[in-house]
Amino acid sequence: MAARLVSVAFPAGDDLTAAYRRLSAAYQQALRYAEDVKRLYQQVQRAIYQSLLGLANALEAKDAYTRGHSERVGAASRSVAAALGLPPHEVEIVGQAGLLHDIGKIGVPEAVLRKRGELDDAEWALMRKHPLTGAQIVSPFEFFAAGALTIRHHHERLDGSGYPDGLAGEAIPIGARIVAVADVYDALTSDRPYRAALPRDAALEYVERQAGRTLDGRVVAVFVKLAGASPSANPHVDARPALAATPPATSR
Ligand SMILES: [Fe+2]
Repeated sequence: MAARLVSVAFPAGDDLTAAYRRLSAAYQQALRYAEDVKRLYQQVQRAIYQSLLGLANALEAKDAYTRGHSERVGAASRSVAAALGLPPHEVEIVGQAGLLHDIGKIGVPEAVLRKRGELDDAEWALMRKHPLTGAQIVSPFEFFAAGALTIRHHHERLDGSGYPDGLAGEAIPIGARIVAVADVYDALTSDRPYRAALPRDAALEYVERQAGRTLDGRVVAVFVKLAGASPSANPHVDARPALAATPPATSR
């Protein structure tokens, strides 16, 4: 069978240069569109995040004892995640989840949040719902799925004795193991309705004693190192006299 010759019309000379320029301009335009879309997406994410922040502020207005707690836990969680070598995107999510970790307390009655004494069983049942409520609040935001998991599991303990799911060891998401350490430390070094603040060194000792028991040992090691490097992980603690070191009921 005779081979068929196919003729392809290549633009010649100047035509080829013009075609290349048009292609290049179209490519540059597409890149600009992609940048615009990325910027808009980031703006939307920021707007959503700021709305959630407003909710966290509303919680702090409702529960004065947690004022500043969310921001400190968020900042400490971000630093620990970065020091552990998590990718930048995950570091950001862990920091945001740290900031929003107690957002579910918005659903806990003030009488329970502010109770000075021990909680009874019914009150504990209400308090223990806050990780699930928090995860539900942020669940519509698909980009924050890992953050929702971190919020859900921030009261799990390494030995499986935590809540809401009784997860143990590495079954607990790394973000939740990080937020747990920052949360326990900050709760210990803050005055709470049910006990006075511990001095910083006593709180660090407590956290170190829990390493490998209820708290992740690697996370604790990094946290303690960072806390040692900063003049005060919770400046407002060093500013007042050491308070009586009651047996630590950590965080609710
Ligand atoms: Fe909590």
